[in-house]
Amino acid sequence: MDTLIRRGRESDLPALRDILNHYILHTVVTFEMVELSLENRKTWFTQFREKGRYQLMVAEKSGATIGYAASLRFHQRPAYGPSVMTSIYIHPEYLGQGVGEQVYSSLLDNLKNEQEVHRAYGLVVLPNQGSVRLHEKLGFQAVGLLHEGGYKFGKYHDVRIYEHRLEK
Ligand SMILES: CC(C)(COP(=O)(O)OP(=O)(O)OC[C@H]1O[C@@H](n2cnc3c(N)ncnc32)[C@H](O)[C@@H]1OP(=O)(O)O)[C@@H](O)C(=O)NCCC(=O)NCCS
Repeated sequence: MDTLIRRGRESDLPALRDILNHYILHTVVTFEMVELSLENRKTWFTQFREKGRYQLMVAEKSGATIGYAASLRFHQRPAYGPSVMTSIYIHPEYLGQGVGEQVYSSLLDNLKNEQEVHRAYGLVVLPNQGSVRLHEKLGFQAVGLLHEGGYKFGKYHDVRIYEHRLEK
């Protein structure tokens, strides 16, 4: 069955929490360290709108929510407002099937039409071949490296900064 890409809804949050918690507990691709609750995801969800800087797109297959791409605040200082940070997580059973590309492309297409968004930044903990390939394929450029920028599971990890200029 085809993958449906649509706006995120509150009813997606239990599935999105479970997907993210898998990566939090078992990998360093996210620098979150402890499992997230449904209440935490409900608060997170309140930032999203159909227009503007902060948007949430989800992938659905056979009625199940299997991943998301989101744009989030990049930095709390106000002059960073036109820059957003992106986040993308696909259910581990559906990796490498084009779902990430579909949902991330949809989010980026939305952002390209938003006058108040100028740059999108993806922070990729290395190594992550899938995420590196996806960012480069979708038009992001590597613009920096945070050398040993994070510490998780007993060691330091490098983080590559990817920038999308969103071709207005
Ligand atoms: C990274 C992620 C979002 C990519 O989504 P996906 O649905 O698996 O990727 P797609 O099937 O859409 O593939 C997109 C491209 O990346 C390539 N790719 C995907 N996984 C790959 C891997 N493990 N190694 C090498 N290339 C990979 C695909 O071949 C495709 O490129 P191509 O068209 O040139 O062949 C997904 O793997 C994921 O959720 N990973 C765990 C969480 C994560 O790392 N999130 C990103 C944090 S920065």
